[in-house]
Amino acid sequence: MEKFVINGGNRLNGDVFISGAKNAAVAIIPAAILGEGPCVLENVPNINDVTVCLKILSEMGAEVRLLNKNTIQIDAKHIRDTVVPYEMARSIRASYYFLGTLLTKFNHAKVSMPGGCALGDRPIDQHLKCFKALGANYSIEHGMVEISAEKLAGTQIYFDKITVGATINAMLAAVKVEGLTILENAAREPHIVDLANFLNSMGADIMGAGTDVIKIRGVNRLVGTNYAIIPDQIESGTYMVAAAATGGDVTIRNIIPKHLEPISSKLTKMGVLIEESDDSLRVVGSNRPYERMNLKTMPHPGFPTDMQPQFAALLTLSNGTSIITESIYEDRFRYVDELRRMGADISVDGKVAVIEGVEKLTGAPVKAADLRAGAALIIAGLCAKGSTEIEDIYHIERGYEDMAFKLRAIGANIEKRKFPGPDAMRIAL
Ligand code: EPU
Repeated sequence: MEKFVINGGNRLNGDVFISGAKNAAVAIIPAAILGEGPCVLENVPNINDVTVCLKILSEMGAEVRLLNKNTIQIDAKHIRDTVVPYEMARSIRASYYFLGTLLTKFNHAKVSMPGGCALGDRPIDQHLKCFKALGANYSIEHGMVEISAEKLAGTQIYFDKITVGATINAMLAAVKVEGLTILENAAREPHIVDLANFLNSMGADIMGAGTDVIKIRGVNRLVGTNYAIIPDQIESGTYMVAAAATGGDVTIRNIIPKHLEPISSKLTKMGVLIEESDDSLRVVGSNRPYERMNLKTMPHPGFPTDMQPQFAALLTLSNGTSIITESIYEDRFRYVDELRRMGADISVDGKVAVIEGVEKLTGAPVKAADLRAGAALIIAGLCAKGSTEIEDIYHIERGYEDMAFKLRAIGANIEKRKFPGPDAMRIAL
């Protein structure tokens, strides 16, 4: 079994370089099979979710070449199979993007229902609604979603709720469909814009990504392209919070500061100093406790749910009572018990967590319940007195490239160690 072992108390200091965005990469990689000719993707994060996406492509017959650690070439001309291997698809949430791309390429797709639901109920009704509106039929049997179509046609789709995944899947499914498809009440996350830019660089005609109305005029063919994935908003935010929490002075490099505004504005409000440059942010923390704060997670440009656990860790040491309202997921407080082991004072009632600031956290053996819960425990461990051992770190490695290495480079005392015993079952997010 592998664990992160952290000896807390070091102030982080120096530069950290941010990798490509996980949630953009896991959409762009399946989309790369739509090009006639190879696609070269740069700034691809070297994380487990990406490895699984690439394995799925290879199993299906695509040629995947690693040009260097963060650059891959995908040539999909030999893909014939429209069934995504069950176990692999179940191990990542983003495998549902193969529904949209395979439907576009072959008018047929069969993919397992997205796996284990660590954040509460996560239905895919809005994805299915899009496929149906475009003219496809679907069925769910034996754990597999199967969709097929004789002919697809452009249409107008109004999302009943704002969803990143269904917005992306609708773009993927509609990109080559004859006529105009209009998506209303669409999600506006930076990775949606990135996917639209990628598809447009292949010859697609997509307008409005980044607003709540996206217009997709179907094109006959898409071609291979070279494309660099945007920096990861959540990885950036995680290091910003880690810098603040340790009273450090860290410059976050290779980023798009605009994407970080919802995070920067909260940190500034708490008393953290942030200096912005073109492609970096300097985060200067303080030795004194930060101001308490309330936050509510919202779709972009609101405060991202994927930063909620990390902020909770920071707020455990702030002055006074903070209230966090989680409005995206039913159950995203599964890290709370673990933070309590470290001395945090948090109570949860449904979608609301109340955090009473305490003077100190102390190291403890804890478990990462999911990816961002794991990031929150790392932040808590960096501030805690003594040693924190984090189990189930495969969650963290699904979405953060070389996290221990990057933290060590800015002064953290963290290492990955092997312990006797098996790793827990892997659950998808
Ligand atoms: N929802 C529905 N029906 C649907 C789709 C979604 O009710 O058909 C609900 C979900 O249950 C959830 C809300 O809508 O309550 C938002 O879900 P969304 O579709 O936006 O999320 P997702 O596509 O499943 C992606 C990221 C998540 C991130 C969310 C929100 C990927 C692979 N995952 O999930 O990332 O939290 O968007 O921004 O892109 C993470 O990186 O830690 C992570 C969980």
